[in-house]
Amino acid sequence: MAATNAFSSLLILIVSGLLLGCLGQSDDRGPRLIDLTWSLKSGIPVFPFYPPYQFTIVHRGNQTGGYYLESNEIAMNEHTGTHIDAPAHFVPGAWKLDQIPLGHLTGPGVMIDVRDKIGDNTDYAVTTQDLQDWEREYGRIPEGGIIMIRSGWGEQFFEEGPVPYLGSDQKNASLLHSPGLHPDAAQWLVDNRDVKVIGFDTISADTGDSTTYPTHKILLPNNIIIIENVGHLNEMPPTGSTVYVMPIKIGDGSGAPSRVFAIIDDRTSTAGLTTPDFILILASAIMLIVQAM
Ligand SMILES: *[C@@H]1O[C@H](CO)[C@@H](O)[C@H](O)[C@H]1NC(C)=O
Ligand SMILES: *[C@@H]1O[C@H](CO)[C@@H](O)[C@H](O)[C@H]1NC(C)=O
Repeated sequence: MAATNAFSSLLILIVSGLLLGCLGQSDDRGPRLIDLTWSLKSGIPVFPFYPPYQFTIVHRGNQTGGYYLESNEIAMNEHTGTHIDAPAHFVPGAWKLDQIPLGHLTGPGVMIDVRDKIGDNTDYAVTTQDLQDWEREYGRIPEGGIIMIRSGWGEQFFEEGPVPYLGSDQKNASLLHSPGLHPDAAQWLVDNRDVKVIGFDTISADTGDSTTYPTHKILLPNNIIIIENVGHLNEMPPTGSTVYVMPIKIGDGSGAPSRVFAIIDDRTSTAGLTTPDFILILASAIMLIVQAM
């Protein structure tokens, strides 16, 4: 009987611990959210071989039925604005956009700032050393992590014309310039870390001067999803967040515009609970068991 009572008390404690844990992650105004997405707007930089983003007003005003209505039509390539590349973008038979499991699109956030490594190299390729330098400061890249590479290029996304962001306004891939991830660093991540997604504040995971896309060809066959044109990385902390990547669900898609955001929750591991919650619940459970004996 005493054991049953102790067990139900334990259950109550665990449940309240969980509730407290949830409450503990937010203040009066709820958790802090960071939007890592650019608005889709006419004139945003697009890869030169894709059509410009188009927004057309269809309804905006009083209708004959006596009601007011707004609706618009949009036209774009899948790989426009803040968007993801599904593995099928470069790999025949691999996951299409709508086959990527939702669980593969959320995980602990890692923001790697490489702005001070770039110098005046507009095609700087982030190295394995850069990733290891980050780990020396902040710890191992967590399992199932979502890495964001901050080159500083994102801050030029809305500058007038595509030249600051892309390096050119010509339909010629060999004139493009922007930083990316070195294929050796991509291979190091594939071989040594368990990463779900890598995001870039540039138009490509590969450097702008690349015309063969080696980094895409390493990441995508390994089901590492790529996000391009990530916004507002200046607001993202190096650790302590959970990132959500929410593409619109295009059937048979090779990629899709995505709402990308981070919840600041001091998360440092892939565990469902933060470490202090877990320790609190464990300590309570041990105390109850000791009392029951
Ligand atoms: C639309 O309808 C509202 C409500 O009837 C009216 O106040 C407004 O003047 C109308 N606007 C136009 C442009 O007709
Ligand atoms: C693209 O730019 C390169 C480098 O300037 C040039 O050699 C090439 O002819 C250009 N291609 C086209 C199709 O204009």
